[in-house]
Amino acid sequence: MSILKVARMGHPVLRARAKAVEKSVVRQPLFQKLIDDMIETMFEYHGVGLAAPQIHEGVRLFVGLLEEEPGPDSDAVVVINPEIVPQSPSTADGWEGCLSIPDIRGMGPRHTDILVRALDRDAKPIELKLKNFAARVAQHETDHLDGVLFFDRMKSFESLTFLEEYSRYHAKDDEG
Ligand code: NI
Repeated sequence: MSILKVARMGHPVLRARAKAVEKSVVRQPLFQKLIDDMIETMFEYHGVGLAAPQIHEGVRLFVGLLEEEPGPDSDAVVVINPEIVPQSPSTADGWEGCLSIPDIRGMGPRHTDILVRALDRDAKPIELKLKNFAARVAQHETDHLDGVLFFDRMKSFESLTFLEEYSRYHAKDDEG
């Protein structure tokens, strides 16, 4: 496996719409290696999600730790061609960061209760019912596939903070 270079904000690949993945492509060894490399890269940089455009691949694929409180022992979930269906109109504000926007945190609204329809790494259809933090991660990563960054979702930039100041002043109200 290899650790991949992560594109940073400003790179045009982060603003392009990624292409759907053909089912027949999913099982190919190169695609499987891409998945493994993305998982390794996400853990290396302590991310909770990583979308293919972030590693310069314009395909609709992300990996993420889709749990309420992910840790280093969490298993990465592989999500291909995701479709997000909100299960209620309810949204909540929460903190987000992004490996493509290093050392910055900001708060924005996300749906709190979603269904994700996608393919897994065996090209089998899956449905994930996600709430709160896991739902936030899935929405953040799916946005990457449409060239959308979390800054675009923020209602105000007032909460923007560097990571060090986040840890010092804001981590206590981090609900995920
Ligand atoms: Ni991101």
